[in-house]
Amino acid sequence: MTAKLIDGKQIAADLRQQVAAEVTRLVQAGKPRPGLATVLVGDNPASQVYVRMKHKACTQVGIESFGFTLPADASQEEVETLVRELNADPRVHGILVQLPLPSGLDEERVLNAISLQKDVDGFHPLNIGRLAQKGRDPLFVPCTPAGIMYLLEQAGAQFDGANAVVLGRSNIVGMPAALLLIRRNATVTVCHSHTRDLPEVIRRADILIAAVGRPRMVRAGWVKPGAVVIDVGVNRVEDPAAKKGYRLVGDVDFDEVKEVAGAITPVPGGVGPMTIAMLLKNTVRAARLQNNGGLPDN
Ligand code: GUN
Repeated sequence: MTAKLIDGKQIAADLRQQVAAEVTRLVQAGKPRPGLATVLVGDNPASQVYVRMKHKACTQVGIESFGFTLPADASQEEVETLVRELNADPRVHGILVQLPLPSGLDEERVLNAISLQKDVDGFHPLNIGRLAQKGRDPLFVPCTPAGIMYLLEQAGAQFDGANAVVLGRSNIVGMPAALLLIRRNATVTVCHSHTRDLPEVIRRADILIAAVGRPRMVRAGWVKPGAVVIDVGVNRVEDPAAKKGYRLVGDVDFDEVKEVAGAITPVPGGVGPMTIAMLLKNTVRAARLQNNGGLPDN
């Protein structure tokens, strides 16, 4: 292996420790304990697992968490009413509506109902709009892209003038990650299913973010020697030798690409743990914002 391994698990654990210390400081200073509310609509098994992990992580760092579950056939009005109640609840500093919502619900309207000060996922249209504009700053940055940037910084990536390629253009990862890279003065190319000559485009990347949801799609021959590779993919592939009959692989063929890249994240143990660490960090930031009457203090 020639690439340096970017250990997301360790980096996230360090961050969580910092968050725990910050929570202790706040509570000792007489401030309210930070609180996160999650809203899960329907019974998507993956979403249930993610939400459970988020509550567990909150408990570990001393953040209070409140879980709300609505049935898959909940109306638009019911979901928005719940969000508005949480906006008004002083114990709740951050609100996370787990995505995707069941079909039939208007995601944008739900996200728009979240108080800007409590938008710890950073998906409120105003926060995303600010992220996309020069000279504006969102109150919160979406957790997975924020985690990606943190890993790149830890890996010593140089952003200024670098060619960055983002594979995938989802609202949750690809697009906000591209915006964050632009804000750091990288030259950014966003690839998707209509991109021509994909391997050739990817080979130009000094920084590669793979967030496309296709198991081991990125091969060694696609990667520029020395590139920093962040693999956001979490794909199940059959593996009769594994206890559950499957194992998780990324969007990057790790075994091949680790011989070419300068640094690379593993799957699991790369980006995944960072998403939750960033959510905890954003929740503490939300609590501090609300303690300060809405003014950022950092
Ligand atoms: N679904 C997949 N990733 C996320 C995330 O970061 N936040 C929310 N709310 N839903 C998701």
